[in-house]
Amino acid sequence: MKQTTQFLKMKESGEKISMLTAYDYPTAKLAQEAGIDLLLVGDSLGMVVLGYDSTVAVTTADMIHHTKAVRRGAPDTFTVTDLPFMTYHLSTEETLKTAAKLMQEGGAHAVKVEGAGTVVDRIHALTAAGVPVMAHLGLTPQSVGVLGGYKVQGKTASQAEKLIRDARECEAAGAFALVLECVPKQIAKEVSEALSIPVIGIGAGKDTDGQVLVFHDMVLFGVDRTPKFVKSYTDVSRAVRGGIASYIEDVKEKRFPDDEHSFSMKEEELNSLYG
Ligand code: KIV
Ligand code: NA
Repeated sequence: MKQTTQFLKMKESGEKISMLTAYDYPTAKLAQEAGIDLLLVGDSLGMVVLGYDSTVAVTTADMIHHTKAVRRGAPDTFTVTDLPFMTYHLSTEETLKTAAKLMQEGGAHAVKVEGAGTVVDRIHALTAAGVPVMAHLGLTPQSVGVLGGYKVQGKTASQAEKLIRDARECEAAGAFALVLECVPKQIAKEVSEALSIPVIGIGAGKDTDGQVLVFHDMVLFGVDRTPKFVKSYTDVSRAVRGGIASYIEDVKEKRFPDDEHSFSMKEEELNSLYG
């Protein structure tokens, strides 16, 4: 299993880091088999798996439940779990306790937190307590209400300057990596060069140290629309919808189950059954 130190080495050697979200056993298993560098049990869980319209409703219990499934599917893959909405803002104590649950009950190797400012202190406290932390800047979905929608961040010079400052603070506080979401590619490049920890981009261009995508977007599974930055590599929705439609038709037309998919009794047993 790759560890935080390996991700740092990958940045130093110029090998790009591949990261993907996973929320369940089969996805985690397939991602590990395909050779993913690390997995994220993202709170995007709330949107792509649970059907909420934002990540705000996701609870710590949800994250533990799904992290356990991912760890069972990918026991040899470094797994990061999101600290959910409002679990790391009220106090350092609650932050540490929640992170401990994600690690001890869920089996997460690290946690991810969104934002800078007061969150920087939390990164410091978590790291000091032995919790590897991934930071997350740019578009921070837990703040969608404050940001006024899912929009590109850091487009003006002053916003970009703040982003770079925040990124440096996250690194100084002990974060082992940083997710940069939905920012102009030029700024992502600058942040990646400014930091010594790996920067994992999503909607941040090609010059970050790695990439992350949401699994359901990447394979088009149950999502109707994907953002501009997503590349979909297959169409699971089409395959699943088509499969279900064929099944329904077979049932209605009495084509399923056929003999091949049925059990049978020996003739003599059948005869003695009816005397
Ligand atoms: O929850 C999530 O999927 C994430 C990624 C978009 C980085 O935080
Ligand atoms: Na998230």
